[in-house]
Amino acid sequence: MQRTLSIVKPDGVGKQIIGKVISMFEEKGIKVIGMRMLSLTREKAKGFYRVHKDRPFFDSLTDFMSSGPVVVMVLEGEDVINRVRGIMGATDPKKADKGTIRNMFASDIEKNIVHGSDSPENAATEISYFFSEMDING
Ligand code: CMP
Repeated sequence: MQRTLSIVKPDGVGKQIIGKVISMFEEKGIKVIGMRMLSLTREKAKGFYRVHKDRPFFDSLTDFMSSGPVVVMVLEGEDVINRVRGIMGATDPKKADKGTIRNMFASDIEKNIVHGSDSPENAATEISYFFSEMDING
């Protein structure tokens, strides 16, 4: 069993599709084992995305991520990191396959509805950024 961190971003919360996003994971047999709604400060968003700190989109991304509430989730399943990435679709919604979350709901490469960890190492770091073991019910 593997774990990953997913975030319904402020645009997903604003579009009132939290439930749709979670359903798309659950329908594929992926389990939600931790979940919380919170508002990121700009500092907390910067810390989360620190690997992108030198990218030109860093300020805009962290402004967006702190612009409204988000839902952070720990998901569990076999090969869940790759499977969640498949369900989300490509980062750029223009390149996302039909039927993926970003293809159906995202407006642009930044406001792309949902985040999912991209490796086991990053999943562990990202999960511990928001959750302690006691918050996780795996
Ligand atoms: P995410 O999967 O959360 O990981 C990093 C985020 O940065 C990404 O989704 C997008 O929201 C954002 N992002 C990645 N590339 C770009 C880009 N070229 N321009 C603006 N935002 C980007």
